[in-house]
Amino acid sequence: MEMDTIIEPFRIKSVEPIQLTSRAEREQMIQDAHYNLFNLHADDVIIDLLTDSGTSAMSAAQWAGLMQGDESYAGSPSYFRFEEAVKDLMPFEHVIPTHQGRAAERILMGLVAGPDVKIPSNTHFDTTRANIEATGAEAIDLVVDAGHVPDEEHPFKGNINLDRLEALLQEEGDRVPLVMLTVTNNTGGGQPVSMANIRGAKALCNEHGVPLFLDACRFAENAYFIKQREDGYGDHSVKAIVREMFSHADGMTMSAKKDALVNIGGWLALDHDTWARKARNQLILTEGFPTYGGLAGRDLEAIAVGLQEIVDEDYLEYRMASTRYLGEALTDLGVPIIRPVGGHAVYIDAKSLLPHIPPLDYPAQSLAVALYVTGGIRGVEIGSVMFGRQPDGSEEPADQELLRLAIPRRVYTQSHVDYVIECFEALVGRKDALCGYEITEEPPQLRHFTAHFRPQEPGAVHHETDAPAEAS
Ligand code: F0G
Repeated sequence: MEMDTIIEPFRIKSVEPIQLTSRAEREQMIQDAHYNLFNLHADDVIIDLLTDSGTSAMSAAQWAGLMQGDESYAGSPSYFRFEEAVKDLMPFEHVIPTHQGRAAERILMGLVAGPDVKIPSNTHFDTTRANIEATGAEAIDLVVDAGHVPDEEHPFKGNINLDRLEALLQEEGDRVPLVMLTVTNNTGGGQPVSMANIRGAKALCNEHGVPLFLDACRFAENAYFIKQREDGYGDHSVKAIVREMFSHADGMTMSAKKDALVNIGGWLALDHDTWARKARNQLILTEGFPTYGGLAGRDLEAIAVGLQEIVDEDYLEYRMASTRYLGEALTDLGVPIIRPVGGHAVYIDAKSLLPHIPPLDYPAQSLAVALYVTGGIRGVEIGSVMFGRQPDGSEEPADQELLRLAIPRRVYTQSHVDYVIECFEALVGRKDALCGYEITEEPPQLRHFTAHFRPQEPGAVHHETDAPAEAS
């Protein structure tokens, strides 16, 4: 008999205690952290939804795999097991390990980008954009219009706008060394890209002799969305869908910290022999010999096992159900989120939730602080704090003011998520009392990591008493 309850398809063998804190303690700690959640000690966070990157729980098989790690400098058997596991899903000619995703991006962009170059994508993740711009090239986002509308229900809001891609390739194709697609589209809300869109992008790339690369951090979640939502894929295995996705690409960059279920690692994989030779030379300069690329042999083993586990459909069903569970509960509470719910995170639309706080008073930062004070939950602002500062030092509001709650893989159970929902219930009732923030100190770049803030009305942070599950 089919059951309605989707359970975590694992048991827990090893646990990490969570240190519970009181609201009064959290008020003090966030003040000491200058209201920047990156400055908190992670021990002082009860539920950490800052990122799904590098925060996965490894399986018993992965931990066992660590003991198989061979730490030979060159030609380690662990490398060959890693390469085989990658090629089983992504049959590219060359597989080049790196310490994480952005290292693969830097090496690739170092080869193909530079002044006068344009690199289009659905939406570049910020490290990809930064690695492109660091060479003097231009990073162009061409996501479909629905991708800009938080509450528009669309099955594949991560798709690239093929008309705009075609126009760019026709007008300036000679300045485009490759096209990228981020699957799923993290910056746009963890939204998937359809197989038809990947195929369409590849057809345009072929017409113009330009290779297609996938930024594939969350490839398995993307494949599961295709299985659920795209006509003709319902009875395909996720593994077959993954293979098809990559069969339309000429290369990929990967952060193994997401859908390889490990805490560190990445790779660059591609078919182009000359680019691969140059990439390996660069790798030796900055990452390490091509059979370890900045990783230990044991890390490569953990990736090899993680890649087999990630395409397990019971896991993916649970993964999607748990993200959706949080998103649907928030929707029921009247909290506006990017819809439909994405794969790895729920994105709250703080501009709609807190219309009394103007974008440049950072509504999503205000919500992030309030959520921490209420229940010790840490999310991340993706709005004008992150993107508002312009190169000339002026400020412009970002496109959206979002608070991302990213769900680490296999880490939290349903009661942890119920606790998050209860905290929101408490928060929604007093949302009109939340105040804006000012930045009192900031570095010139990537200010969100280290900026200091001050609440515009300090009382607004400190006046609530009825947080759930107080430890003292
Ligand atoms: N591409 C995407 C789509 C990402 O989400 C990330 C990382 C990277 C590339 C870079 O990979 O961190 O291994 O160097 N995203 C993390 C996040 C940091 O929180 O979304 P990395």
